[in-house]
Amino acid sequence: MSLTDTLTTALSARQRAMLAEMGIRVWDKDKGPRQAGTHAAAQRGQTAPRPPKTGHAPAQLATPPARPMQPAPRMVAPQPAATAPHAPELTPHPAPEAIAAMDWSALQDTVTACRACVLCTGRSQAVFGMGSQRADWMVIGEAPGEQEDRLGQPFVGPSGKLLDQMLAAIGVSRQAGVQASSQSDPSPQSEAIPPDAAPPEKQPRGVYIANVIKCRPPGNRNPQPEEIACCESYLRRQVALVQPKVILAMGRFAVQSLLQTTDPIGRLRGKAHHYQGVPVIVTYHPAYLLRALPEKAKAWQDLCLALETLEQAQKAC
Ligand code: URA
Repeated sequence: MSLTDTLTTALSARQRAMLAEMGIRVWDKDKGPRQAGTHAAAQRGQTAPRPPKTGHAPAQLATPPARPMQPAPRMVAPQPAATAPHAPELTPHPAPEAIAAMDWSALQDTVTACRACVLCTGRSQAVFGMGSQRADWMVIGEAPGEQEDRLGQPFVGPSGKLLDQMLAAIGVSRQAGVQASSQSDPSPQSEAIPPDAAPPEKQPRGVYIANVIKCRPPGNRNPQPEEIACCESYLRRQVALVQPKVILAMGRFAVQSLLQTTDPIGRLRGKAHHYQGVPVIVTYHPAYLLRALPEKAKAWQDLCLALETLEQAQKAC
């Protein structure tokens, strides 16, 4: 049974109903994407739910994006520490070559203690990343928000809940494959799933989740070019350590920073790009999807493309 077979059959009626609610089609290996809920509803003798009517778009759709649309800053060399009278004391991070040689533990310690840019002055803690350190899947977002800064884990606010639902719909979980002894995620959530919990083909697959920026920008403002540059070596090393087979880049900042482009997401979706030789599938940020419900259908297409890309990479191995 292939990965997509397994994932398609593994979707519960509840997940299908949820996807149908979102107007999202489920990937079917033989028939391609189809309306979620069709199979479960047919089995119950019901008709499939209809896609959402555009005339009933929720009021939030009129809400403009929280952040002004402007090109994401390109990665540039880190700037020297500011010299204004009240400028915080900053310390350059280790040289990129040193970071590129670090193991997980050294990397996490370095990120935790990092004072290379001004974001260290406003954070509660750096948010390193979490999940399976050898996952085939890697999700890369933008920067911690208020809840992530408080709890020290990526994507734990409302957008994190949506991300977890999206991943669950394709049989991926941030808890799967995480070693209880992992130093990168000492939270209670990191306990390994017992090996006999379910047949291997039905167990969720692991994912490693990280952000382009490790510290919360104050007031959730846009990250600055020098802040992105400071964190770049950290993310680069995380990707090298995980060695994912596919990266899901979520949101404009993550996408444009990884791919070194100013193109909008709409133009970059629908094909595999590459970062450090790993295929990158571009999609919308969950926080945006929460404000623009119809775009969830596009995000589901992106997930299906990521699944296909992963299958191809696994066949090539
Ligand atoms: N948005 C992100 O991009 N990352 C997080 O960790 C949380 C919200």
